[in-house]
Amino acid sequence: MDTRILAPTKENILLCAEALRRGELVAFPTETVYGLGANALDARAAEKIYAAKGRPSDNPLIVHVASLDDAKTVAEKLPPSALSLAAKFMPGPLTLVLKKKDVVPDTVTGGLDTVAVRIPANNVALALFKAAGVPVCAPSANVSGSPSPTTARHVYEDLKGKIPYILDGGACKIGIESTVVDVTGDKPRLLRPGGLEKEKIERAAGTLLLPEDTSKPLCPGMKYKHYAPKAEVYFSAYYSGMSGGICLWYDRLAERGIKTVILCLTPNAEKYGRRNVIRVGDGYDSYAHNLFADLRMADEKGYGAVIAEGVPDEGIGSSLINRLIKSSGGKII
Ligand code: TXA
Ligand code: MG
Repeated sequence: MDTRILAPTKENILLCAEALRRGELVAFPTETVYGLGANALDARAAEKIYAAKGRPSDNPLIVHVASLDDAKTVAEKLPPSALSLAAKFMPGPLTLVLKKKDVVPDTVTGGLDTVAVRIPANNVALALFKAAGVPVCAPSANVSGSPSPTTARHVYEDLKGKIPYILDGGACKIGIESTVVDVTGDKPRLLRPGGLEKEKIERAAGTLLLPEDTSKPLCPGMKYKHYAPKAEVYFSAYYSGMSGGICLWYDRLAERGIKTVILCLTPNAEKYGRRNVIRVGDGYDSYAHNLFADLRMADEKGYGAVIAEGVPDEGIGSSLINRLIKSSGGKII
């Protein structure tokens, strides 16, 4: 199959909307990462997503819609907590887990009785959903396990030959996935930290419950290996003197002949002397924006190991920590 990267013109958005309605896959930009979309009401279309990504089929998909009204086509009556969070944060990097309606096939929800719903803050995505006239289920548009795609080129590298269309909306603004909150219980529960800071949600909705420690993961996707480049990733704890610890670790890897690079904030780069660095930007928002792209870049440049600087566990930092723990497979130094 030929994979075409399309500029987000009116004609191309219509072409992609038609493809979605026919049961084909379309990759599209959002403010967080690129999504790989299918008609969420068509089980056979949704199955194609799992096949293209190599994704385990018990890992449910987020259903993307253009408005809260459209959310009601896939979710049962929205509880007050959902309505107030939606009023504040949607469209935006927030996904709400709600009781599902029967129209949503089990393939989309992994057999759960809930459905995750999101309205992305991206005009190309919203125009696509409106033109398609159907809810669009979509995971991140990468091969399962690899860093999420934040440009159309990343999607192409992972999925060329497997999907017909990629709508190119440029680089994603935020760079890491949405925050997933379950609002089916008495109190909202944070299932996955992400682009919307937990503190902002808590200011609006009170303290969030955290994932329960059960054998059955509430957010099934979190149990799989994720966000990992080919290089070994090591992730530093955040402490004063962190750069010294990172230098020691780097030198040990280098002595073993492993080509290593440090992901660091731009103002910290000089602390690493002549060692290889990739500058992720001036602050934690740019670190989030660039993380997945920089992990891919480390592979392109042939690095065997990446050491990522630690960040404080607050705001977007908490979401970065979540992704870096997964990318590193828990190799914290
Ligand atoms: O920003 C995002 O959320 C991006 C863009 C494309 O919208 N999408 C994304 O999808 O990150 P994905 O499939 O990579 O991650 C979805 C997460 C998974 O961890 C999945 O287990 C969880 O949401 N999820 C989906 N439906 C759920 C449900 N009904 N209950 C609990 N967790 C759910
Ligand atoms: Mg993903």
